[in-house]
Amino acid sequence: MKMWSGRFKDSLDAKADIFNSSLPVDKRLYKHDIMGSIAHCSMLGECGIIPQEDADLICKTLSDIFYDIKNAKLKVSGAEDIHMFIEEELTNRIGDVGKKLHTARSRNDQIALDFRMYLRDAVDTIAELLKNLIETLIDISGKNIDTVIPAYTHMQKAQPTTLAHYLMAYSEMFMRDIARLAECKNRINIMPLGSCACTSTSYPIDRRSVAKRLDFDGISENSLDAVSDRDFAIEFLNDCSILMMHLSRFNEEIIYWSSDEFGYIELDDKFSTGSSIMPQKKNPDMCELIRGKTGRCYGNLISLLTTMKALPLAYNKDMQEDKEVVFDTVDTVKICLEIFTAMLPTFKYNKEKLRIGAARGYTAATECADYLVKKGAAFRDAHSIVGRLVRYCSDVNKQLDEITIDEYRIFSDLFDSDIMSVVKPENVIQSRKAPGSPSEKAMKSEIKKAEKFLRTYFAISNE
Ligand code: ARG
Repeated sequence: MKMWSGRFKDSLDAKADIFNSSLPVDKRLYKHDIMGSIAHCSMLGECGIIPQEDADLICKTLSDIFYDIKNAKLKVSGAEDIHMFIEEELTNRIGDVGKKLHTARSRNDQIALDFRMYLRDAVDTIAELLKNLIETLIDISGKNIDTVIPAYTHMQKAQPTTLAHYLMAYSEMFMRDIARLAECKNRINIMPLGSCACTSTSYPIDRRSVAKRLDFDGISENSLDAVSDRDFAIEFLNDCSILMMHLSRFNEEIIYWSSDEFGYIELDDKFSTGSSIMPQKKNPDMCELIRGKTGRCYGNLISLLTTMKALPLAYNKDMQEDKEVVFDTVDTVKICLEIFTAMLPTFKYNKEKLRIGAARGYTAATECADYLVKKGAAFRDAHSIVGRLVRYCSDVNKQLDEITIDEYRIFSDLFDSDIMSVVKPENVIQSRKAPGSPSEKAMKSEIKKAEKFLRTYFAISNE
């Protein structure tokens, strides 16, 4: 019989009962639900709303239930949702005293509490995984400050850069992801309990003591808002979608870098798969799966936005749909970060091909134009001179470091013999000294800053 069945003559249709139940999904909230209940019940005892000895017995039994579930001695099943399951189990164990737990509380504020507690843990876990990934990127970058690679715009060769510059670009994205999630956590970490069904309660509750016990930064200000707000979950899904977009772009590059056409990277056997028909194949399935799962995370975001878009105040059962999409995104982001961080150090870079890639395609043309400017030409004139020079090279099928100084001088007598060393990819790279550029000095400084970001962020969040 349902706990709420007092006003009903008939019981729920069997199929409707299954349809209504969220237990298969929300059972993963059991720890947070029990922690929340213990904090709530301690407050009820302290404020004299229920006798202290009843509060003590309830808290102790809740803790027993927690360990029994954790150690698989108690199977979570057969109830409408996780809240009902725990309460029913409590009452089975201690009888009437257990029935006092739900005083001054509704499942509406209870689920808001559980969900926020779950999500702030999820944010910490994901931030930690991002930290591992960034540390891996820093490590590989440190060893590749002088590995020359081509940079592209429009997927056409643009200018020479280094592998460190390229990998640290992704590290910047993942640092922003950490910062975004930390911001999101500020809004998650607000305590909604005491809002009850929708307009709070007349019991003399102490909401701040519950918030303090559960380590929240503050309490919600409006009970109608508190039970119907899922902004924090949408924001989390948004931040995870951006994170997955970064991972997906990275993996897209690895996929074509490992193709025969590019041949910049060789994938490790541990992270690639074969074909059931083509014996020669070595496919980048992990990268493709990460790219593919990005779409699924976007879907979860759009799903919850759509669920919420026409909901009147305050709680509506539609909101029960929030958990599945959030849990799915948490699981997806976690496994993608784990797999990717493990796979990253296994790539073998073909440094020779990368260097040739960086030297071909007239990637030093901008540097050539800048050279002329330094010798007194206006940039637009220099651009046009080098444009004609490139056309000539292309006609005679030679690269900028393969023509002679006399050929250079056909296009401008500002060219001296030093141009031959200026157009070398290594020199192009080292000539870029401004912060943000790939020269050794700028790269070392970027890496130092990334290390400092991790140290500062994780020192504060571990406080
Ligand atoms: N299982 C519900 C959910 O996830 C909990 C809140 C139910 N509240 C209610 N009034 N039926 O949203």
